[in-house]
Amino acid sequence: MLNVGIIGCGSIARQRHAAEYTNNQNTVIAGVFDVSRERAEAMAKDFGGKVYETVEALIADASIDAVSVCVANAFHAPITIDALNHGKHVLCEKPMAITLKDCEDMLAAAEKSGKRLLIDHNQRLTPAHKKAKEIIASGELGRVISFSATFGHKGPEMWSADKSSNTWFFKKNAAAFGSMADLGIHKIDLMRYLIGSDVKNVFSRLATLDKKFPDGTPIEVDDNSVEILTFENGALGTVTTSWTHYGEECNASSLYCEKGTIKLYHDPRYSLQVVYADGTKAHYELDRMQTNDDVQQRTSGVIDVFVDSILTGKKSVLDADDILNSMRVVFACLESAESGRIVEL
Ligand SMILES: NC(=O)c1ccc[n+]([C@@H]2O[C@H](COP(=O)([O-])OP(=O)(O)OC[C@H]3O[C@@H](n4cnc5c(N)ncnc54)[C@H](O)[C@@H]3O)[C@@H](O)[C@H]2O)c1
Repeated sequence: MLNVGIIGCGSIARQRHAAEYTNNQNTVIAGVFDVSRERAEAMAKDFGGKVYETVEALIADASIDAVSVCVANAFHAPITIDALNHGKHVLCEKPMAITLKDCEDMLAAAEKSGKRLLIDHNQRLTPAHKKAKEIIASGELGRVISFSATFGHKGPEMWSADKSSNTWFFKKNAAAFGSMADLGIHKIDLMRYLIGSDVKNVFSRLATLDKKFPDGTPIEVDDNSVEILTFENGALGTVTTSWTHYGEECNASSLYCEKGTIKLYHDPRYSLQVVYADGTKAHYELDRMQTNDDVQQRTSGVIDVFVDSILTGKKSVLDADDILNSMRVVFACLESAESGRIVEL
């Protein structure tokens, strides 16, 4: 049995990590910590585990085998590195860290400690995305020529444990990034994963169009973005992100291949549809997209992948070394938005 600790006891910790550790037969939640004592106590009450006084005390406890890092973005790297240095396996939330150096330091700490470091890129694991990977890899549709991917919802202030437009998600010092990195990292990583190639260059525009703090001033990070990505293998496409999709959430992608189109999460019933070049269609009734509007977060499979990789010592589909290459694209997008130029990777 693995003793796990959960650091940060907000929404994703509760909806995904705690719920999925509870359902995993090889784990027990042994410790929790949050800068909000109240939130840590509520988590321990609902899911078990000791409430630690400090993050250092939890990390120093030799009886804890692995930790989930579910805190605001700016604290992912220091907490992850400290935990790895103390011999813990780490599952860190996305976006991996707020600078490229932090991401590289996290990987170096994992290599030095010999412990597992995974990043919560749950989109790689959804049934429709797994099936799309299989179809593309089989070659039956030929190569991916172009793509479009969108991730938009009504905003993290509706989801975060704060439930306030004064949320850390809107502040540069805690979040560092806005919608582009918060949501775009999922789609950038997914396109890299499905297409099976790396990004060659990017052009990105970020904007703060609507979100405001309670005093009416605009938030400090972007609430909308558009990215144009060119892949090494020639595929060209867009990633669009938004925190102002007030109607309904969109989490859909299309991949336009030589012999047809793969449509992902466009239809509420058929999460994957293939439209062949001759007009025939195949509909796959696999799953519904996990959205912030529902509680499907607790069946992502991320914890099972983390636990399996610890128990077997084998590489996993969520390993940080590959996710780092998706983060390089995020940093290139930030540079492009800042300079107004195409940025080569
Ligand atoms: N993989 C996904 O699909 C997904 C979904 C949602 C959020 N996330 C990520 O998870 C992380 C947490 O997001 P959330 O939605 O749960 O936010 P949240 O605001 O609901 O919870 C964050 C919690 O972390 C605590 N915290 C902040 N800094 C801390 C620190 N230094 N030490 C200890 N506790 C600290 C806060 O008090 C809060 O309880 C973010 O990085 C976010 O991007 C990932």
